[in-house]
Amino acid sequence: MGPYANLLCEADDCLAVVTVNRPAKLNALNRATIDALDSCFRDAAQNPSVQAVIVTGSGGKSFVAGADIEEVSGFTALEGREWGLHGQAMLRRIETMEKPVIAAINGYALGGGLELAMACHIRIASTRARLGQPELKLGIVPGFGGTQRLPRLVGKGHALEMLLTGDPVSAEKAMAIGLVNQIAEPEHLLGAARSLASRILRNGPLAVALTLQAVNRGFEMPLAEALEWEVSQYALSCATEDVREGTRAFLEKRKPRFRGR
Ligand code: COA
Repeated sequence: MGPYANLLCEADDCLAVVTVNRPAKLNALNRATIDALDSCFRDAAQNPSVQAVIVTGSGGKSFVAGADIEEVSGFTALEGREWGLHGQAMLRRIETMEKPVIAAINGYALGGGLELAMACHIRIASTRARLGQPELKLGIVPGFGGTQRLPRLVGKGHALEMLLTGDPVSAEKAMAIGLVNQIAEPEHLLGAARSLASRILRNGPLAVALTLQAVNRGFEMPLAEALEWEVSQYALSCATEDVREGTRAFLEKRKPRFRGR
């Protein structure tokens, strides 16, 4: 995959590691980086040799320290709207990807950085991570999903405290409120993300994709409709070769060899 501006991408054993790479600007998201992430995730979605993606930041200090403040200062309302829609579309591509995406938060995840992490399916934070939506300190409103995904993840009360104060939280606090799934020492962060990805990759890939769809779309529906949606995903999974292999392997007391069919 790639190359992409301001991104490092490596892929091995079905796992792609995407590193946002503007360390001199703490990996802030300028337009070129947003475009690169969009292309990179479009390619990862289509590439059959990629089954899961880890997103992290380069340098020891930051995951992503937000949208690039130099680029966004001085926007008119129309420019701001276009920028917000552009960033939201890229993050929506990540959120709706049918392959698991794990954020390995190695430092500051602020503003657009936290919004990027929240669009990922699972988050692991280094003990050094600081997570926040500091936009109100700049006099602007989060525009890449922060006002919507944060309350959905941590509840309205914690979200409003983080949004209205703009103050970042520690990894421990993020874990306590459900903003991250795990905490790891900085030197073990990528290892923890790889190990989580490999636990997922042992499972039937079609069932993983159908479950991501079931949760992502179902989460936005009323329960009765979401349950119908779940049944349609379940029914589809019943018709795969993978379910034959998975159930046969259980009965034969061996590990399944899923082929994603
Ligand atoms: N956009 C553009 N540049 C940024 C940036 C951002 N979001 N975040 C950091 N940078 C740049 C700084 O301007 C600085 O560049 P310079 O060396 O050319 O002056 C460089 O990255 C290092 O940042 P610095 O502020 O010197 O590091 P620090 O350790 O003192 O502070 C932060 C780290 C994360 C607390 C601080 O950089 C910060 O508050 N960043 C902005 C976070 C934010 O408001 N994000 C939401 C934006 S909508």
